[in-house]
Amino acid sequence: MLRKSADYIKSLKGKNPIVCLTAYTAPIARAIDDKVDLMLVGDSLGMVLYEYENTLQVTLEQMIDHAKSVVGASKNSCVIVDMPFGTYEDSINKAFLNVARVMKETNCNGVKLEGGQKMSNTIQHLCKSSIPVMGHIGLQPQSVLIDGGYKVRGKEKSEWQKYIDDAIAVEEAGAFSVVLEGMAEPLAAEITSILNIPTIGIGASPKCDGQILVTEDMLGLTNVAPKFVKKYIDLDKIIKSAVCQFSDDVKNRNFPSADHIYHMHPKIVSGNNKNS
Ligand code: KIV
Repeated sequence: MLRKSADYIKSLKGKNPIVCLTAYTAPIARAIDDKVDLMLVGDSLGMVLYEYENTLQVTLEQMIDHAKSVVGASKNSCVIVDMPFGTYEDSINKAFLNVARVMKETNCNGVKLEGGQKMSNTIQHLCKSSIPVMGHIGLQPQSVLIDGGYKVRGKEKSEWQKYIDDAIAVEEAGAFSVVLEGMAEPLAAEITSILNIPTIGIGASPKCDGQILVTEDMLGLTNVAPKFVKKYIDLDKIIKSAVCQFSDDVKNRNFPSADHIYHMHPKIVSGNNKNS
């Protein structure tokens, strides 16, 4: 089966809900590859894997290294890589060079960048240069220091037009889809009904064309998960229980058992070795 493309994801608008999750590492990518349509190598990896306070410290090199493992360990889903803070905002040319590096070095299917109207010229240039781009509007984690922090957007109707204009700008610039993050539900539903490209919600609306979560959040591997996260399993608890059993086995000398050790070749054991 061929890997799903950004065009294929775009074609799902109005058809099937689009299933998306983040993947930062090979084991997670391998586990979820044939169950999701799209895997995002999100810059949330800075907070989830590296314990950074926000996503601003994440580097292009980190994104490239993680994206290489995710692409290498998967073959079905569309892999999109987040452009980290500081690699695309400054100039269209710099954005193109950094995005081209990500595409060349990782063999991913496209990139995601944050920003609506203010990023539309960049998105347009990238799309015209044959690079599939996913937009990201609403709560933009790379702007939390200046933009009201992690607060939900569009709770007042007076705020709506800005976000609707952002969404339209991203679509008109040529993006194949757009993430709507941290938005009042009716605003996300309204944007979804206006756009011709799929909206992917996170803390948004069940009416979005697809949904995305941080995989570690839904698996119960992160300390604090926001209200919009549904925890499907408590892997932290399961890991702790497995490690407890391992610890008991080691302390009681029950591990390694005969099944887990290397035995001598039978000839050597039976004393046929001349030098023995
Ligand atoms: O970085 C990320 O994981 C994201 C998703 C939360 C959409 O941008």
